Amino acid sequence: MATCWPEPIVSVQSLSQTGVPTVPNRYVKPAHQRPVFNTTQSDAEMEIPVLDMDDVWGKPEGLRLVRSACEEWGFFQMVNHGVNHSLMESVRGAWREFFELPLDEKRKYANSPDTYEGYGSRLGVVKDAKLDWSDYFFLNYLPSSIRNPSKWPSQPPKIRELIKEYGEEVRTLCERLIETLSESLGLEPDHLMKALGGEDKVGASLRTNFYPKCPQPQLTLGLSSHSDPGGITILLPDEKVAGLQVRRGDGWITVKSVPNALIVNIGDQIQILSNGIYKSVEHQVIVNSGMERVSLAFFYNPRSDIPIGPIEELVTENRPALYKPIRFDEYRSLIRQKGPCGKNQVDSLLLSR
Ligand code: OGA
Ligand code: NI
Repeated sequence: MATCWPEPIVSVQSLSQTGVPTVPNRYVKPAHQRPVFNTTQSDAEMEIPVLDMDDVWGKPEGLRLVRSACEEWGFFQMVNHGVNHSLMESVRGAWREFFELPLDEKRKYANSPDTYEGYGSRLGVVKDAKLDWSDYFFLNYLPSSIRNPSKWPSQPPKIRELIKEYGEEVRTLCERLIETLSESLGLEPDHLMKALGGEDKVGASLRTNFYPKCPQPQLTLGLSSHSDPGGITILLPDEKVAGLQVRRGDGWITVKSVPNALIVNIGDQIQILSNGIYKSVEHQVIVNSGMERVSLAFFYNPRSDIPIGPIEELVTENRPALYKPIRFDEYRSLIRQKGPCGKNQVDSLLLSR
């Protein structure tokens, strides 16, 4: 894996703050990738499902709701998810303060493509690639053996403590969700967690995304189309500014987030484990000229050193194994080289028949 970036890193936030009137060429996407803002009336009314988790946990009808959301959308919003609302607000606020620090302070945490840990502005190491209009901070959370809080921001003062508190609550939520996903697939409650490598061996990381104001939002993207590589992702969106778009057929649905909701989406590894029953759906982020946007993506991933393939019970004569097994560390390293690339990575594992 490359240990340095192919071109010098430019902080998009600093670029935005200079007040450039146009988007520099390296962020201008080819026409077919540019965002679509004018959705038709019927698209405008479409929404990803919103699930009240009080109606889901331990309820047979809830399992059906989860199953249909994961089969059809790969995404749903959760209310009554159990994560403390004021903690959500505080951790997002602390990250906002971090991004408001002077560039020199943030640069102390500058990341490199071998681990991605730290402050960065680029995904992928392909030279001359068109870049996304965002900066981010990436940190490892689980297993705790690879957690290194000294690589986490030390400012604002409470941020490390808040990340830990938020991380613990979201981790508990993920454990519950994995059990529910398992049952919703018709498996024993602990089957999926075992297939992921077990509670104490799974991985988790947090990427806080910062999308600065953009002078020409119609020409670029905050985050290019991709599916999340791991197990499941819990997204804490900005409380005011929309931006996440989810693939629906040939078009995109802009998510209108419900107050205090968390968004969950299926990643490639659950698509593989479920033998394609659950979909890791493509998504992207659009930016705008008036407001910056902050989001926290908590990635809950399989143990990295075991092969992940379709769960035996989900392979039948009518539904033969769709994917060849791969270890998550290998899978992730391919993604880290290429950067966001739609669904190409998971599709490359499809077995031909
Ligand atoms: C991601 C992601 C969406 C958002 O970080 O993988 O899809 O709204 N983020 O920032
Ligand atoms: Ni994503």
